[in-house]
Amino acid sequence: MNPAGKTAFVTGGAARVGRAISLALAEAGAHVVVHYHRSASAAQETVAAARQSGVEALAVQADLADPDAVRRLIQAICEQRGTVDILVHSASPFIRGSLADTSLATWRQVMGVLVESFFLLTQGLAPGMIARGEGAIVAMLDRGTFDPWPNFFAHGVGKSAIWAMVRSLAVKLAPQVRVNGIVPGPVLPPPGYTEKQRAEIAAGTLLGRWGDPGDVAAAVQFLVRADYVTGEALFVDGGERWAHRRPRTR
Ligand SMILES: NC(=O)c1ccc[n+]([C@@H]2O[C@H](COP(=O)([O-])OP(=O)(O)OC[C@H]3O[C@@H](n4cnc5c(N)ncnc54)[C@H](OP(=O)(O)O)[C@@H]3O)[C@@H](O)[C@H]2O)c1
Repeated sequence: MNPAGKTAFVTGGAARVGRAISLALAEAGAHVVVHYHRSASAAQETVAAARQSGVEALAVQADLADPDAVRRLIQAICEQRGTVDILVHSASPFIRGSLADTSLATWRQVMGVLVESFFLLTQGLAPGMIARGEGAIVAMLDRGTFDPWPNFFAHGVGKSAIWAMVRSLAVKLAPQVRVNGIVPGPVLPPPGYTEKQRAEIAAGTLLGRWGDPGDVAAAVQFLVRADYVTGEALFVDGGERWAHRRPRTR
């Protein structure tokens, strides 16, 4: 798929990694719908930056943990843009909590944003893609999708559920719509990380450094264009998952 002239919708697309994805798609010529939850001013700034690429851009607000808000969001996007060609699901509440200290409310919030909204968005937007004969869906995963992260219990389970959906959707929506995941490694630390934490995480990758949001945005661009790739998870992690296989002495 050539993104030029297509409409891309990016959840969590206003700030941080989502911002880089929105702007990369705009640079590739896609009109972008930038979703945000709380980052209203960042969303306006991202929209303004996207327009510098000569595309149309708009910001849409929704709490993706609220299914009614997601339904209103789909309706608003369809009214304003018609069909969406590219869906990138990047929004993610990164909430710490083990089995013992995750409340049902937190569980529902995390599942709502990660899983339920992805279900509603694909259910709402995929029929238009199929009708137009072309669509690309990309979902952000992370290491917790595959490796247990007991202190981010709901988050890890939610990301695993997205990966399960990616594969099911790839099967169901083929051949018109391709559905893939991206597994970023450390590309942008959450606020408050110390230098020591950053250095330890960098040392835990084969490449010995952090990536940046542009690495993930480039992977999104690749998967949008990669017409023979579906049901895949693309790791953009500096080899983090293989670092434990390094020889102990070099
Ligand atoms: N940063 C990394 O190094 C890294 C590593 C591995 C995987 N990833 C994945 O890559 C994606 C982007 O990473 P990131 O670090 O940029 O993520 P992030 O800053 O932790 O969160 C992305 C966005 O999620 C949105 N969000 C949170 N709760 C929401 C809700 N209830 N409703 C709607 N939106 C909500 C927020 O939007 P607002 O700001 O508008 O409230 C936020 O900007 C995520 O899926 C993350 O899991 C990132």
